[in-house]
Amino acid sequence: MARKRTGPQRMALLATAAAGMALLAQGASAEVRKVQEKGLKPYEIVDDISIPKPLTDKPGDAKRGAELVVVRKKGNCLACHKIQQLDEFPFHGEIGPELTDVANNMSEGEMRLRLVNPKVVNPDTIMPAYYRVAGLHRVLKKFQGKPILSAQEIEDIIAFLKTLKATQ
Ligand code: HEC
Repeated sequence: MARKRTGPQRMALLATAAAGMALLAQGASAEVRKVQEKGLKPYEIVDDISIPKPLTDKPGDAKRGAELVVVRKKGNCLACHKIQQLDEFPFHGEIGPELTDVANNMSEGEMRLRLVNPKVVNPDTIMPAYYRVAGLHRVLKKFQGKPILSAQEIEDIIAFLKTLKATQ
């Protein structure tokens, strides 16, 4: 039969539990990696799945983001992804998953890491890293040392992706 705990014993147990919860709340298990590439804004990758904080202070512009997704020399996302909300544009590829409902499936931070450097999530992915300069084997000199998208363009695209919900 379980014995009743005395007051002080209970207090000690509660204190231990509280300390444990505080550790969890602090994200004792969260691994934060700081990344700073030459010429790019620094950012933090959390647990190799997310960049929770925006790259810029200025909020993203969803309308501009939609344009960047379509334009071939910028995002060119439709080459690989179907997005029903952009049905008026031709040539939606099916190499990557459909993004029509992406806002219901991923957090903003997860989207940001996918755009900045999807190789962190999947080293074998064929999706381009849009905000990197290291590790890119570009042929054209004019592209060397420049990411495909600027930090603000990444935020614009994320603002657009956040509007993509199949159930509206
Ligand atoms: C060359 C093809 C290609 C291009 C271009 C491309 N992607 Fe991807 N993308 C993929 C593939 C393939 C995946 C599947 C996951 C993987 O490979 O790791 C993916 C995954 C994603 C995911 C995760 C979706 C999920 O449900 O898991 C998002 C979000 C995403 N891409 C957004 C974009 C956006 C936005 C652009 C344009 C800025 C873009 N992609 C351009 C190929 C591409």
